[in-house]
Amino acid sequence: MEPVTDVHAFAPGRVNLIGDHTDHTGGLCLPMAVSMGVTVRGRREGDRIVLSSSVVRGTSDIPLDVTSPATVEPSWSRYVAGVVAELRPTVGFTGGLRSDVPVGAGMSSSAALTVAVALALGHDGDVEALARTCQLAEQRATGVPCGILDQLASAAAREGHAFVLDCHTLERTHVPVPDGIEVRVVHSGQERTLVGSAYAERRAQCEAAESVVGPLRLAGVTDVDAIEDPLLRRRARHVVTENQRVLDAAEALRAGDLEALGALLDEGHRSLRDDFEVSTPVVDATVERLRAQPGVHGVRLMGGGFGGCVVAVTEPGALDEGWHARPGPGAWVEVG
Ligand code: GLA
Repeated sequence: MEPVTDVHAFAPGRVNLIGDHTDHTGGLCLPMAVSMGVTVRGRREGDRIVLSSSVVRGTSDIPLDVTSPATVEPSWSRYVAGVVAELRPTVGFTGGLRSDVPVGAGMSSSAALTVAVALALGHDGDVEALARTCQLAEQRATGVPCGILDQLASAAAREGHAFVLDCHTLERTHVPVPDGIEVRVVHSGQERTLVGSAYAERRAQCEAAESVVGPLRLAGVTDVDAIEDPLLRRRARHVVTENQRVLDAAEALRAGDLEALGALLDEGHRSLRDDFEVSTPVVDATVERLRAQPGVHGVRLMGGGFGGCVVAVTEPGALDEGWHARPGPGAWVEVG
């Protein structure tokens, strides 16, 4: 008989303060983990991964040699299958999972799921390797060529901090989030749609821009202005200006300058709306409505776009809707 191991793993969802659609060109982001996340409890035993869920229907029952994660049912178990296909554990798992990350909101419930499952199944590499495994697992599960932001935010966050993430080197610089700055996440009311195909299209457009000016992470606004195609020029301009906004936002955070941070979020939203074109009328209306409230200093679309949540930076207590995102710790696992 194989030895049975009890496991308790947790991985958080994330908020990205600024730096969206920069990770896939090796650019900069400023995420933090939230206290909401996915918890997996169970035992390493047997030769299948059997997980029940308290939040979604159906049981995930995946063989260790699963070959097509994108086709398994129920659909949430594709993420579990993706992790199994990447990690190829030699022992199965029986247990259950709980999640309090809102699904489809842009807070990376799927990254929290893959990271928690990878730890539960015995991933024992560093946080970069863990995030890479889970990024590939998510790509296998969904077919969407996502970047590494969500998984690394979940794996490597530090309580009380946001961090500048360099998606080229995976280097991280942690910055404390001061008490005077409240981060609030509000759902636009629009479920995200067309996320997969539009995401792949935007990524391809960034690559096309790079074939003209070289890596966007190294490009400046003048390089981008030289791109002839107006659409590619807009896409590239978003990425280049967003990378700079991440650095400026980290400075504003360090200085506790809510006004400066807010102005950068506002600018970031305009850039995602006009240059990257991933916003929607419903999201824009949510941004404008929240921005008009007293004590709200900046609001922007968060994540991949086409619906989902917005993130606001406010004076403490200024908004009483949505979720108060407190910077929580990164993923952990207890085995024994
Ligand atoms: C999604 C992807 C991430 C990132 C964001 C946009 O959340 O999964 O990799 O590209 O969109 O910043």
